[in-house]
Amino acid sequence: MATTAPLPVETPTAADFLPLRGTDHVEFYVGNARQAAYFYRAAFGMSLVAYAGPETGRRDRASYVLQQGKVRFVLTTPLRSDSPIADHIARHGDGVKTIALWVDDARAAWQETTRRGATSVIEPTETTDDHGTAVISAIAAYGDTLHAFVDRGNYTGAFLPGYRAVKDDIVARPVGLLHIDHCVGNVGWNAMNQWVKFYEDIMGFGLYQHFDDNDISTEYSALMSKVMANGNGYVKFPINEPAEGKRKSQIEEYLDFYGGPGVQHIALATNNILETVARMQQQGVEFLTVPHSYYTELQGRVGKIDEPVDELERLGILVDRDDEGYMLQIFTRPVEDRPTLFYEIIQRKGSRSFGKGNFKALFEAIEREQASRGNL
Ligand code: FE2
Repeated sequence: MATTAPLPVETPTAADFLPLRGTDHVEFYVGNARQAAYFYRAAFGMSLVAYAGPETGRRDRASYVLQQGKVRFVLTTPLRSDSPIADHIARHGDGVKTIALWVDDARAAWQETTRRGATSVIEPTETTDDHGTAVISAIAAYGDTLHAFVDRGNYTGAFLPGYRAVKDDIVARPVGLLHIDHCVGNVGWNAMNQWVKFYEDIMGFGLYQHFDDNDISTEYSALMSKVMANGNGYVKFPINEPAEGKRKSQIEEYLDFYGGPGVQHIALATNNILETVARMQQQGVEFLTVPHSYYTELQGRVGKIDEPVDELERLGILVDRDDEGYMLQIFTRPVEDRPTLFYEIIQRKGSRSFGKGNFKALFEAIEREQASRGNL
């Protein structure tokens, strides 16, 4: 079955004042980047491709650049306590600082968004080394999260100026991750529509899908969600807010432990979810599980699928179908001790949606985890 192909980036609509080529990278602020990098290399199979730190002349921080397919993560740690990076970690724990977007013109991206009301965090800045020149700018998004704009059209190095290339990662055990499908933000009570407006007015995104608390509620807890997408559909940002339920919403738990709004999960695409998830499990990644009854009801709900149901059940993979096809997905447990950031692994087979049919089973699985942490 054909997978969904977004419109080619060469033909942005006239209204697209912020043409994006996709996600350039996600930068995390972490307490110990060397060890976090080992986790993503050994468990998620990412390769260390570039590094910057004291050995390359950067005195205040160390950054490890990891890549698999088009997924690129930068793990940054402060070297001293009197650092805004250290403050960020003290407040939020390890988490996403920046979702960086790949553009042809980081100056124009900054001008267009700040002119429409974005708060500037980094004015367009040109950096150069032996491999060329890159331009970066950044604006504030929800909480302490940033959106950076990266223009690397005149740069041929491993990552960005100032980083040195790392060759032959002997630790990395690739699992078939291809690209970032979407990045989800959790925002505060009644703040979802304000951030929907931010993406509409300031970044030129449109509403792609939305879910209300009838779609996303269990006996105990609820949330609301709207999915925003840019003009060519390469970049999708679902925004969640907590909704009233009998018990504490999973979004509220996140906000409590992250200390405010932030990135809740990053969905990574594969074209063979059975193999990707089997390898990740072997490499120690912990996933949420759903009860056996989910799989006895599965075929009746989604009809014929290519994957054997017993294999899906063994791995804990969820399936949902819409008018265009189906999709397979699975969620990790949070990858920090704080119940904050987690990952989704997703394979799309025609479907462009987000697994609405799995919300109940999934949120019940999350609630079991919340209860085990004493937070439900
Ligand atoms: Fe997701």
